[in-house]
Amino acid sequence: AGNKGKNKGSEDATSQPSSDDAELACSFDINNPVLPPAIADHALTSGGFPYDSELKKKPYGEELTELQLELLKLQSHIQQQGQRFIALFEGRDASGKGSCIRRFMERLNSRHARSVALSKPNEEERGQWYFQRYVRHFPTAGDMVLFDRSWYNRAGVERVMNFCTPEQTENFLRDVPDFEALLVRDGIQLFKFHLIIGREMQLVRFHERRHNPFKRWKITDVDLAAIDKWDDYTRAQNEIFARTSSELAPWIIVRANDQRRARLETIRWVLFHSDYPDKDAKAVGTPDPKIIGIGPEYYR
Ligand code: ADP
Ligand code: MLT
Repeated sequence: AGNKGKNKGSEDATSQPSSDDAELACSFDINNPVLPPAIADHALTSGGFPYDSELKKKPYGEELTELQLELLKLQSHIQQQGQRFIALFEGRDASGKGSCIRRFMERLNSRHARSVALSKPNEEERGQWYFQRYVRHFPTAGDMVLFDRSWYNRAGVERVMNFCTPEQTENFLRDVPDFEALLVRDGIQLFKFHLIIGREMQLVRFHERRHNPFKRWKITDVDLAAIDKWDDYTRAQNEIFARTSSELAPWIIVRANDQRRARLETIRWVLFHSDYPDKDAKAVGTPDPKIIGIGPEYYR
């Protein structure tokens, strides 16, 4: 089951979940404090993840500090130049969007950098143009905004959970490249990150949320439903990549089973692809092609 998400093309996307997957879902009982070894042992390498151990804490900490220092230089440049910056983070439940964003923001001047995680639309918002409630949070000159989930909800969670109609999803997929082109042509810097995790890794993280009292608040009904909707999300994800990765606004795919590497590589990607004074190319380094790359071509 481990490689399934990765190798699954859109052609066979209508096929039923394999027996492997069914078995996996059956052996998993979120309420049982003991996690089956078949899941625990395969979490890190699930979904075709290329490393068999996590990055160690020490090199991670050192690199993070260096990268965060570079981010500060970038932020000050953005402020001085009056640029506008948006990074959005997508990915399945428990893919680690929130923690990536936290490390990104940690050392920034919070007056000019903020994260946005919208809850479900209220009645007024449901009556508006779909993009409207997101646009409200866009940055002004000098500011950086990081979205934890984004307008892509319409082709992801809203689609899979039937919170919208198929027609609304279709209209969204049709319109989103135009929407994003408008932003980029107006000078907004837009980075779209999509965090990928394997199935076993998602189960391990849900299990941790359930049994760690500090994380329990994170688990939601939408998460619980995702356990059985793995394949629906895979299909949705593939279609998002196929239809919404444009030249102006490509998807940056991040293999996120190892959260430390995922956090470093997303920050590094932004720095590597930005110009700012006193850039320390050595500190920034080069994106790791085993972890991060562009669009559906990268993620097959
Ligand atoms: P998160 O994973 O962001 O912590 P949830 O797992 O509860 O939160 O929900 C996932 C996403 O689904 C959120 O962006 C939430 O706003 C959205 N959502 C939940 N219920 C609805 C709904 N009825 N209509 C539209 N979106 C919804
Ligand atoms: C994440 O961990 O990816 C999100 O921030 C929270 C969630 O998945 O529910």
